[in-house]
Amino acid sequence: MINHAKEIKKRRTFAIISHPDAGKTTLTEKLLLYGGAINLAGSVKGKKTAKHAVSDWMEIEKERGISVTSSVMQFNYGDYCINILDTPGHQDFSEDTYRTLMAADSAVMVIDASKGVENQTKKLFKVCVMRNIPIFTFINKMDREARDTFELLDEIETVLGIKTCPVNWPIGSGKEFKGVYDRSTQTISKFIAANNGMKEVETVEATIGDSSLDDLIGKDRHDILSEEIELLDGASAEFDQELVNKGELSPVFFGSALTNFGVETFLKHFLSMTSSPLPRHSNLGEVDPLTNDFSAFVFKIQANMNKAHRDRIAFMRICSGKFDADEEVYHVQGGKKLRLSQPQQLMAQERKILEEAYAGDIIGVFDPGIFSIGDTLCMPGQKYEYEGIPTFAPEHFAKIRQVDTMKRKQFIKGITQIAQEGAIQIFQEFNTGMEEIIVGVVGVLQFDVLKFRLESEYGVEIRMEQLPYEYIRWVESKDIDVSSLSVTSDTKRIKNMKGNALLLFVHAWSINTVLDRNKGLVLSEFGHE
Ligand code: G4P
Repeated sequence: MINHAKEIKKRRTFAIISHPDAGKTTLTEKLLLYGGAINLAGSVKGKKTAKHAVSDWMEIEKERGISVTSSVMQFNYGDYCINILDTPGHQDFSEDTYRTLMAADSAVMVIDASKGVENQTKKLFKVCVMRNIPIFTFINKMDREARDTFELLDEIETVLGIKTCPVNWPIGSGKEFKGVYDRSTQTISKFIAANNGMKEVETVEATIGDSSLDDLIGKDRHDILSEEIELLDGASAEFDQELVNKGELSPVFFGSALTNFGVETFLKHFLSMTSSPLPRHSNLGEVDPLTNDFSAFVFKIQANMNKAHRDRIAFMRICSGKFDADEEVYHVQGGKKLRLSQPQQLMAQERKILEEAYAGDIIGVFDPGIFSIGDTLCMPGQKYEYEGIPTFAPEHFAKIRQVDTMKRKQFIKGITQIAQEGAIQIFQEFNTGMEEIIVGVVGVLQFDVLKFRLESEYGVEIRMEQLPYEYIRWVESKDIDVSSLSVTSDTKRIKNMKGNALLLFVHAWSINTVLDRNKGLVLSEFGHE
């Protein structure tokens, strides 16, 4: 076996997704704690301690006390090397949030037990499903009053369309929360609210029906638990690793990240149920992650991480082999050999220069403006491309124009560059030129970011008029004459910078109406360009 295969097999790379406030940051902090990556939980983001020093350009970020940028955290736990891809945790997320999922091998979905499946979880979940990656569910905040457990599972199954398989089962919630019952080991982990830093929880061997359990959790709780487990054994899907691998069955865990309960159990099960990086598709077939040869793809470009240097960082996911900072690599789309400059790992606010990294890892490299999202890097002498990253559907649209007509050039340059980074998408009216520009974003915060950046980096002030459209569809059928389509009054025809046609709709139902009216029309929710 090649010597670095061992390193690669240790890797687990996953993204954490949730609706804001479900507890993603808290869970991440506790996971890092187990790896000894931080001494004190609470230092990952320092949300309330105004530690947003890195991304200066994000004044907005500071003002609003949120993190717009995603980061990657790496830690060791036992024999594993774990990469957590954090996705921005606020209402107004961007396309980057989606793209981060393209770099992960699995996803952990954090759900607030009192709320259930919320809007943002739904959106992110769609991307996981598209990629068929394993999805794990952590139902958090059991120390607070929770919704009925069966109801929560039912909601996940119906709303998200995935089967669930509870690995453990909660005993009460809120003030009555006693702990969880592990279905496979048939043991009970008793809930003891641990303070930050404490790792251990008490685990007690307990058989349902045994009188000792009455003492532990009370007779009433014991009765309820036996009933629920009986019901569950009869009703829920059985654990099936194959289905988990395909993202069709989600193992479910209950816990309380804040009090550090159920986190380590979750981590252990998670590690045993996930695999190290798997082969990825390229245009020349699958690429084995364990080969000697380095390869990676760019999934995110972040501009102006450091205002003083006006730098751009390209984030890439290593798909195979070992990255060695001294070696030249081949940038397929650019057709050039190059040495990746200042390779680094981003851990919250800190950057660490790397000498080497392995398949499964994420590295950020200095980008002098040569990389685009989806680009492949491999070894000189090789030439293949990983499957592209789809363009995700923006949900908010605005017409923009520059205030000072003399600044047309800077305006076009600015929005084109920002669009290349993938923070916004730009469109034009179907039959006109560049005069009127329509910007589409995934989260409305990106409008503010765009305005701010055009002013501060390009010296261009803009006017923005928000449009009522909420749905966008790519016209996939190439042989259709878009101008003669029969559309509804709330439909707008636009084209992107590559000249491809798209349709905007105010109402969701108009999409079906337009499809019904135009035979042969194929619309898609993701753009593959
Ligand atoms: P997010 O990243 O998903 O947005 O959520 P985050 O971890 O920031 O958690 C949101 C709020 O929920 C925080 O409270 C956090 O302390 C709390 N929380 C997280 N996990 C649990 C849990 O298991 N039980 C309970 N009871 N609360 C939990 P906050 O008051 O908004 O912030 P902070 O002052 O605690 O930082």
